[in-house]
Amino acid sequence: MDRNGLGTHAGQRREQVLITGASAGIGMELARCFAADRSTLILSARREAELQLLAAELRTKYEVEVHVLPADLADPSGVAALLSALTELGLSPDVLVNNAGFGARGHFAELAAGRIEGMLAVNVTAVTRLAHALLPSMRARRRGGILNVASTAAFQPGPYMAVYYATKAYVLSWSEALFEECRDEGVTVSALCPGPTHTEFSSVAGTDDTRLLKLGSMDAVTVARVGHAAFRAGKPLSIPGFNNRLGAFSVRFFPRALVRKLVTKLQK
Ligand SMILES: NC(=O)c1ccc[n+]([C@@H]2O[C@H](COP(=O)([O-])OP(=O)(O)OC[C@H]3O[C@@H](n4cnc5c(N)ncnc54)[C@H](OP(=O)(O)O)[C@@H]3O)[C@@H](O)[C@H]2O)c1
Repeated sequence: MDRNGLGTHAGQRREQVLITGASAGIGMELARCFAADRSTLILSARREAELQLLAAELRTKYEVEVHVLPADLADPSGVAALLSALTELGLSPDVLVNNAGFGARGHFAELAAGRIEGMLAVNVTAVTRLAHALLPSMRARRRGGILNVASTAAFQPGPYMAVYYATKAYVLSWSEALFEECRDEGVTVSALCPGPTHTEFSSVAGTDDTRLLKLGSMDAVTVARVGHAAFRAGKPLSIPGFNNRLGAFSVRFFPRALVRKLVTKLQK
């Protein structure tokens, strides 16, 4: 048995894993990692067709049960509908993978209000509400946990992506705090902090031509595997890639004014 108290044992039901943002990128690769563990999967995102294609692939390749529950997490009623759909189907996830998220580049004052509200709703509110609703049963069962996808953006302020960086700082801070609250309860809370990764993220955020992206990106498969392995090992934090780890840890030794200027250069 691994550190999460998971795995399938005689007489124990199969682990259920809810993954948000499973229609693309890192979330899709995380779904493949958990399917390889033979967990029952619950896939969510807005695009149902992509989720159904992935579900069909996972059922065939890993012979696992897969449920598709489309939801728009920018909408408070979308989060509520997802939670009710779980109850209606008699599902109670042992693992929540809070992966859905997006960024938006630009001067804060010039971003559309709807984009800002959407980022706060998906990256912060939905993540928190899903965890708050699902954590009590994980604690009662003393198994499973939460894998939160934060970012290396969480470690410093991000001029020209100010709200996105701040949402990820929230996710990392909250996640590490929950890790401590849950550590003796058989429940793992782990934050995955990727650096730039080849997914649809940059086209959605409008960051394709930034200096940061020109420095290089990792592939979503590697990023997902690192996060999945860290979660299974009960680690509070994982940062895929040596350069990303170096950046995240060295930033605390530099003057904040210098860090702000550097990130401005990389994002503007
Ligand atoms: N790629 C990077 O460079 C990078 C770096 C650090 C952290 N991250 C984080 O990694 C996570 C996954 O991003 P990714 O890189 O895999 O990007 P992606 O390819 O754009 O995937 C984002 C996922 O989130 C879902 N999503 C977006 N808005 C949603 C909404 N309103 N309701 C429900 N689902 C929604 C999308 O599904 P639908 O469009 O079908 O709804 C999609 O499945 C995000 O939290 C992101 O912040 C990414």
